[in-house]
Order: sequence, then structure tokens, then C-alpha cells
Amino acid sequence: MPPSSAPWRTPFLTHLSHLTGPPIFTLATLHPLLAQATTVYTTETASSPSLQALPRARTCVYRGLWATLPPNPHDPSAPRNPPIYESDCPVFTTDARMEKVQGLFFTGANTDPNIREAEREGGLRGSGGGGPVEAVFWIEPARTQWRIRGTAWILAAGDIDDGESVGARKVREMLLSRMRRISGDDNNKEEWSFSREINAHFTNLSTIMRGSFKNPPPGVPVEGNPPGPGEGLGQRVEGGLEEDEMARRNFRVVVIVPEEVDRVDLGDPERARRWLYI
Ligand SMILES: Cc1cc2nc3c(=O)[nH]c(=O)nc-3n(C[C@H](O)[C@H](O)[C@H](O)COP(=O)(O)O)c2cc1C
Repeated sequence: MPPSSAPWRTPFLTHLSHLTGPPIFTLATLHPLLAQATTVYTTETASSPSLQALPRARTCVYRGLWATLPPNPHDPSAPRNPPIYESDCPVFTTDARMEKVQGLFFTGANTDPNIREAEREGGLRGSGGGGPVEAVFWIEPARTQWRIRGTAWILAAGDIDDGESVGARKVREMLLSRMRRISGDDNNKEEWSFSREINAHFTNLSTIMRGSFKNPPPGVPVEGNPPGPGEGLGQRVEGGLEEDEMARRNFRVVVIVPEEVDRVDLGDPERARRWLYI
């Protein structure tokens, strides 16, 4: 357990609190040059034949720090964990079928080919990952850029509590090492669960956003590809993940474990300042 909160935590959260809408950030990942990936790159598409990965960046919505969910405006009666932990790890949600999920698995920390293969087999259906990321926030009211660098871990409701895959075990180990107990004691661990936290992230979304996890797979052309059973655009999901098998299969929480944070303050144009927290 980390002894105390990161030195950048309070200024970061204070800056976010100045925003009127949900905080939006850019997430950069590495996309591996692998034949198994859905997009197949030849070496000619890379700028150098020795490159094993290409950069990818996309917009995401920040959903709070892991274990300290914001209040639920959509479904206030949905089950939640008690507020007994906190962390310094930013969270976003995603769909297991998106390319960034593959990228985070394929560029994860494991260099052992056997473990990587086991992760790949079970991985895309469950928890794991750990690939390197940089999350970039521009907080206009504070005239500050935050770049949070670290690794990103994918959490699936189906296996996160007791799954025995390499990926699920690694995610639990990594996150537990970053969670600080802020009330009560560690004797009663039963009162808090990973899957309840994932479900609470799901029910924190609007019903139409929850329904987006039942869309046809991303990237499939609409013309000539009828949706699979239960799939379709514009669906609404009223309840949690337990009541919807397809949403449960596709919904993922992604937790960024920071290793280095770079803060650039342009508030005073004559005295721009930069902090590097490591
Ligand atoms: C304003 C905005 C917010 C978005 N938020 C998310 C998000 O929180 N999670 C996510 O996976 N994609 C989000 N997207 C979509 C991504 O930018 C991206 O198109 C999608 O995730 C597919 O990316 P990938 O193919 O690299 O996985 C958002 C897009 C926009 C424009």
C-alpha cells in the first residue's frame, strides 16, 4: 500500500474541479505491429522497418480516481462500495472490442512469450493488459497541461474478483498495491469488491451510454453487415452489468497506474513553470 497520496494529487483534482463538463483527455498508447491484430501493418506502413509499434492517440472521458467514484447522477440507488479506499490512479471506461484494448494487452509488461500467449488467449475476454500509456489533460481554467505516464490495466467484471488468468491476477496485485485504506481496517475485506466497483462505473453512465456496449462491433461497416443477436445501435440499458450479459462481456474499466507526472503551468506567460513528479 503506498504510504501517502501522490504530491500532484491535490493540485490535479483542484484543477479538474474548475471544469464545468466532464474532464476530457487524450490517451496515447502503442499499437503493436502484429499479424494477429485486427489491423495488419506491413513494414512499409511504418516509418522504419525496425519499428515494432506505432503510436495511437484518442479522446477519452476521465471517470475519477480508482476507488473514489464520483456520485451517480443517473442511478443513485445502484449498489456501491463503501468509501474506504483511495488511490492516485485515473480511470476511464471502454469497450473490450476496441483496438486500444488489444494494444494494452500486446504491449503489456510481460516479455515471457508463454505468459504473453496465455494472456492473449484469455486476455481479450477478461482482465489484464498493463501496456504503457500517456494521458494528456489540458485544463484551460488553470492554464495547465498534465501528462500522466504509466501503465494501463483492463478490468472485466467477469473475472476480476477471482479469475485465475495471469492477467486477472496481475491486475488485482497491481491495484491492491496502489489502494490506500482511508477508513476502517483491513480485517473485513469482504465489504469492498472489484466487481462492485466496475458495476458502479457502469451504472454511473447514462442508460444510452450503457446501451452502447451492445452496439455492433466497432469498425464494422453498417452496409451489408446485419447486427448479431441482441446487438443494435441506440439501445438503452436500465440496470447493472449483472442483468445484461452482452454489456457485461464488452464493458471494461481501465485504470492508469502513474509512474511519472509532468505538469506545465502557463498561468503566468512571463513565468511558465514545469514540475516533473517521479
Ligand atoms: C468526447 C469524446 C469522448 C470519448 N470518450 C471515450 C472513452 O471514455 N472511452 C473510449 O474508449 N472511447 C472514448 N471515445 C472514443 C475514442 O476517442 C475512440 O474513437 C474509440 O475509443 C476507439 O479508439 P481505439 O480504436 O483506439 O480503441 C471518446 C470520443 C470522444 C469524441
